[in-house]
Amino acid sequence: MKILVTGGAGFIGSAVVRHIINNTQDSVINVDKLTYAGNLESLSSIESNERYVFEQVDICDRAELDRVFAQCKPDAVMHLAAESHVDRSITGPADFIQTNIVGTYTLLEATRAYWNTLSEDAKKAFRFHHISTDEVYGDLPHPDEVDSGEELPLFTEMTAYEPSSPYSASKASSDHLVRAWLRTYGLPTIVTNCSNNYGPYHFPEKLIPLVILNALEGKPLPIYGKGDQIRDWLYVEDHARALYKVVTEGDVGETYNIGGHNEKQNLEVVQTICGILDSLVPKESKYQEQITYVTDRPGHDRRYAIDSSKMQRELGWTPVETFETGLKKTIEWYLTNQEWCQHVQDGSYQRERLGVESPTTKEEV
Ligand SMILES: NC(=O)c1ccc[n+]([C@@H]2O[C@H](COP(=O)([O-])OP(=O)(O)OC[C@H]3O[C@@H](n4cnc5c(N)ncnc54)[C@H](O)[C@@H]3O)[C@@H](O)[C@H]2O)c1
Repeated sequence: MKILVTGGAGFIGSAVVRHIINNTQDSVINVDKLTYAGNLESLSSIESNERYVFEQVDICDRAELDRVFAQCKPDAVMHLAAESHVDRSITGPADFIQTNIVGTYTLLEATRAYWNTLSEDAKKAFRFHHISTDEVYGDLPHPDEVDSGEELPLFTEMTAYEPSSPYSASKASSDHLVRAWLRTYGLPTIVTNCSNNYGPYHFPEKLIPLVILNALEGKPLPIYGKGDQIRDWLYVEDHARALYKVVTEGDVGETYNIGGHNEKQNLEVVQTICGILDSLVPKESKYQEQITYVTDRPGHDRRYAIDSSKMQRELGWTPVETFETGLKKTIEWYLTNQEWCQHVQDGSYQRERLGVESPTTKEEV
């Protein structure tokens, strides 16, 4: 298969591209605009492979997308390109509306125009796989809101959409567009909604890499609010494997929830990172002493948790990494890849706090 991957220079996209090149015989056309979040260095291990091609293209640029489709003639699209950071969406929602909604619409239309030129067999075999987030579902009851012993609900594929942030609202819009293109035009689409990912090559604005790097540099480790927000963490390579299974074996029109069965409070995540660093890079004081509580994120969802039993039942996928094994691998990766970390922070972003109405000072963060 020839797979056109959008956002292949990003965190999850680069894991998907590496997975396909290293573990299958398929080819990849990586379509990426290279925003601050896109880094070709994340693909240096596979960039010279003859089954890999890079196209620096904005998914909002219809003419360029048409050119790439005509030239590369893909059998499937895996659509990951997006603005992905909730805090940035609070500070500046415009880019999220543009890329996540207008960009997805433009990509759907370019794909449809190309798909209409295919033979009936090729049209049937074609897949448009839209990669989305569990954040479209809004948040779930937190353990401190339910009676003890009461079972806590999980997001299923049937959960109604109730997004809270400009980011999740823009992703929800794009999910709706993708499903409409199947229903209206017959484009063979599949949607996946995944929980929080972590692992190597994660841009250091997100909680886990930010905490690792701040800890090593002796900087404060910011905890939003009380740090009791719960996320369901999935190791990025487990996600990449799941996505390849969906695009190759998933059923058209289906939605698949993907999660790690690893519900953790943010504070617990930060404390676990500190504990691992205490043993890997010991110093006089404990890393935990760097923890600092800062104003909570506006509209902060309290709990996400995924029921991924459909992925297991229908596609035989389960995550390989536990949170403990995945986190240790991640920390070891950041310790040995400091150069990557320096290169991706190009001077315009210094791990400062984003997404607050009246920003706190750098010292507070
Ligand atoms: N990170 C998570 O925990 C998570 C969880 C579930 C779902 N997702 C979804 O997975 C996808 C990938 O997430 P990520 O964390 O790898 O994001 P990321 O921010 O690390 O990477 C996004 C990539 O998209 C590219 N891009 C942005 N705008 C573009 C445009 N207009 N045209 C072409 N390329 C563009 C960027 O250059 C970058 O390479 C996103 O759609 C996101 O919503 C992420």
